[in-house]
Amino acid sequence: MEFKARLVSWNEIVDWCLSIRKEIVNSYSPEIIIALSRGGLVPGRLLSDYLWIKDLYTIKTEHWGITASKDATAKIREDPTIPVKNRSVLIVDDITDTGKSMKLASDFIKKLGPEEVKTATMLHIDHSSFKPDYYATEVSNKEWTWFIFPWNIYEDVLRLLDKAMTGEHTEEEIITLLASNFDLNISRQLLQDLLSNFRQSGKVFRNNQKWRIIRTS
Ligand code: ADE
Repeated sequence: MEFKARLVSWNEIVDWCLSIRKEIVNSYSPEIIIALSRGGLVPGRLLSDYLWIKDLYTIKTEHWGITASKDATAKIREDPTIPVKNRSVLIVDDITDTGKSMKLASDFIKKLGPEEVKTATMLHIDHSSFKPDYYATEVSNKEWTWFIFPWNIYEDVLRLLDKAMTGEHTEEEIITLLASNFDLNISRQLLQDLLSNFRQSGKVFRNNQKWRIIRTS
């Protein structure tokens, strides 16, 4: 197996965000939420609702190099309009894995003169160099997993296919490749929905019953 990947459901997203909310209401009264784009957008929006915080902003952490490569360095795309001065801030992301994005964002916000800064993620991998103040689930690095969040299915599965597919494969073969390379079991129906999108977007090519990735680089 190359590494483990798993599909995360919308119900899990809701449960994790409710669990973060529960911890926060007992210990912190943020006045403004800053969601890290793109992974923190949906959790940030849910927490904005669950905590009655309408002041929801985003900042984008950008990675140099290949998307989601573990050692890429991150930088902040600055947004000087976020009104954090003298206010209690909650920074939200989906996961702390290396911890680089959250460290960068939290250092950046602290320089803008907030009253207090706390951080929250749904998932925290225990090797992360940054530990969020609030998180719903801790994952052991021994069980390191690529979490396929419901808002990133197309991008992530295409990336997995790009790693696993060597030439032309039938749908059955693709399902087997995903299971053996990533311990990822996906239904025939889901695979067909994904492939249909990839095909319309010019990312895969179908020849009779076989599929091939169109690689641009
Ligand atoms: N972003 C950074 N690490 C991740 C992981 N393990 N799963 C999903 N998204 C991530």
